[in-house]
Amino acid sequence: MEELVLFEKIENIQILKINRPKRLNALNRETVDLIDERIEEIKKDKEIRALIITGDHHFAAGADISDMIEKTPEEAKAFLFTNTFSKLEHIELPTIAAICGYALGGGLELALACDLRIASEDAQLGLPEINLGIMPGAGGTVRLPRLIGEAKAKELIYLGGRLTASEAYQYGIVNRVVKKEELMAEAFKMAKKLAEKAPLALRAAKEAILYGGDRTKTEALSRESEIWSGLFASQDQKEGMRAFLEKRTPQYQSK
Ligand code: CAA
Repeated sequence: MEELVLFEKIENIQILKINRPKRLNALNRETVDLIDERIEEIKKDKEIRALIITGDHHFAAGADISDMIEKTPEEAKAFLFTNTFSKLEHIELPTIAAICGYALGGGLELALACDLRIASEDAQLGLPEINLGIMPGAGGTVRLPRLIGEAKAKELIYLGGRLTASEAYQYGIVNRVVKKEELMAEAFKMAKKLAEKAPLALRAAKEAILYGGDRTKTEALSRESEIWSGLFASQDQKEGMRAFLEKRTPQYQSK
């Protein structure tokens, strides 16, 4: 049987590829459980500096509708992907969704749990749950309005339409749009650039942004200053500043 999730490490970049092409990578529980297991493995691998999530031909056409249709509310709750997507959102390294083809419903919600999104020109993004008599349930009503504002998020959620890659760029959902054949190379290039940055500083910035997203401005500013000053205990801070003054490239040790 084909593996539902392919896992490949190139240098210090981890690539996770959803591989259920006959269903346009629709996410069933088994696929999401495998993604969850892989996230746990990535958390233990201290070599990895960035994670790229992608899909075979399509990113993912949403949660698997045939798996959901007969569920009771309790079963639907157990089926949901919220915990795994939150685990992904909080993973302590930068994550990139490389989006080709369809990124719909739970597929887009998976991409929204990543730090950055690159789309190929053929990508179509949307939250079509309303057309199935439900609403987004794996972060769509939470992460999308925070990312692009309520007005645009409500339009997508209430009307259930799809955006082209360039529209998604204009909405601020994706960071950039590239040619289809260049998607993985561009995602990898971005991941390599991230891998060259000080890992502790990147982790700290991610923590501050995540913390701030859930708190008042005052709390967020206070936590930001704590995290920022904490970085001065790291060798990487000394190295980064020393390298600047010595006009050379810094060599970070993740210490
Ligand atoms: N669940 C289950 N099967 C799916 C699927 C999904 N989300 N998306 C596609 N498929 C299956 C199709 O049923 C079809 O299977 P068969 O060959 O056995 O008929 C196969 O994948 C190919 O799909 P289509 O023939 O429909 O391909 P298309 O090119 O004509 O259309 C599409 C593509 C527009 C993406 C269309 O498949 C579609 O609308 N899919 C559903 C998208 C959707 O509604 N996603 C949200 C799901 S709900 C959700 O995600 C809840 C949540 O918040 C967690």
